[in-house]
Amino acid sequence: MVGYAFMGAAHSQAWRTVNRVYDLPARARMALICGRDTAKVADAADRLGWDAHTTDWRDLINRDDIDVVDICTPGDSHAEIALAALAAGKHVLCEKPLANTVAEARAMTAAADVARATGVRSMCGFNYRRVPAVTMMRQMVADGRLGVIRHVRAVYLQDWIVDPQFPLVWRLQKDRAGSGALGDIGAHIIDLTQFVTGQRISGVSAVTETFVKERPLPAESSGLAASVDGHAAPTGPVTVDDAAVFVARLDGGALATYEASRFATGRKNALRVEINGSLGTVVFDLERLNELEFYDATRPAVEQGFNRILVTEGEHPYMSAWWPPGHIIGYEHSFTHEMRDFIEAVANGVDPTPSFADALQVQLVLDAVTRSAELGSSWTEVAPALTAAAV
Ligand SMILES: NC(=O)c1ccc[n+]([C@@H]2O[C@H](COP(=O)([O-])OP(=O)(O)OC[C@H]3O[C@@H](n4cnc5c(N)ncnc54)[C@H](O)[C@@H]3O)[C@@H](O)[C@H]2O)c1
Repeated sequence: MVGYAFMGAAHSQAWRTVNRVYDLPARARMALICGRDTAKVADAADRLGWDAHTTDWRDLINRDDIDVVDICTPGDSHAEIALAALAAGKHVLCEKPLANTVAEARAMTAAADVARATGVRSMCGFNYRRVPAVTMMRQMVADGRLGVIRHVRAVYLQDWIVDPQFPLVWRLQKDRAGSGALGDIGAHIIDLTQFVTGQRISGVSAVTETFVKERPLPAESSGLAASVDGHAAPTGPVTVDDAAVFVARLDGGALATYEASRFATGRKNALRVEINGSLGTVVFDLERLNELEFYDATRPAVEQGFNRILVTEGEHPYMSAWWPPGHIIGYEHSFTHEMRDFIEAVANGVDPTPSFADALQVQLVLDAVTRSAELGSSWTEVAPALTAAAV
């Protein structure tokens, strides 16, 4: 694994847990973790349960006993690490968004296509697909329970940078993160809604905004605390969007709206999706992730209404290995499910999803949103996802 902070911890927990919960054809051994600071990565290895640590990710590539490279770093290093790992025959799990640019995502997808021919697998970490209620939504749509999908309404709202004194961390720098709320949390609702509906976004009209354009440099990069001797800390420009809002058409005929913001005061991690079809509506709210709301318009009129489905039965996706019905699961379980599916796919010699090609398609939507916003919200088609290999 490369990176040991937020996603590093979440993935480590999943790698630790997955073989204890699920009966799988292969076992994960947590061999080597990489970070840039020797003392910190040593501490992380100990805390998160890794056998060894290094400060150079190339050590993962060079070791013959390592089969899988799990990339949990900011987007500016995804492409370099993934390309090297695939070339060395390592299976790759890469966090989302796949890359910082479409060009990088295309190169990664092409490399994944080449590697696949020799049995090397790759997957992008859109973990919310594997919340059981989300997987179930997809099944309901596929089973025709919603009929023809007319509307998709998706928001992903946070508020952690409302304070203008919040420092200029990597997520607020375009060269490190690619984009702001759009790529960080907007990417999740783009992938989730396309996954659930089976439809792809074909075109968008967007607005984006950077509400706070200058922020204090983080203490570790400026070497200064927030203020020194009464002088304000040095500042730098915010080079990404704070919020992105767009309307979209899906290729199956649905109209969709998307909102991704880090300025939704009071909203901590509010991912909500509502899908309206000709036969019903389904609603998901990440802050109540064990539940789905379902309105079944095929019921007799006198019985119609929104029902709450508690998605904790053994028959529900992923749930048979967990607890008895009603004993709820949480955020981290989505990563355990991700590792389960990844290990199964690798061990059984099949391609896991979402593939790098799927993640490239999300990247193309991000790019269309950015271009539309730059062009005064003009209607912008999503470019075709032809990979270099396919071309
Ligand atoms: N799936 C999700 O729900 C989810 C949630 C948060 C973040 N992410 C994604 O995960 C990735 C990491 O985000 P995070 O929140 O964990 O960030 P973070 O800042 O918490 O951690 C980043 C880690 O990468 C390390 N790192 C950075 N550059 C490195 C390099 N060149 N070599 C080795 N280590 C390096 C840092 O030291 C740190 O350990 C991003 O792509 C982000 O978009 C996904």
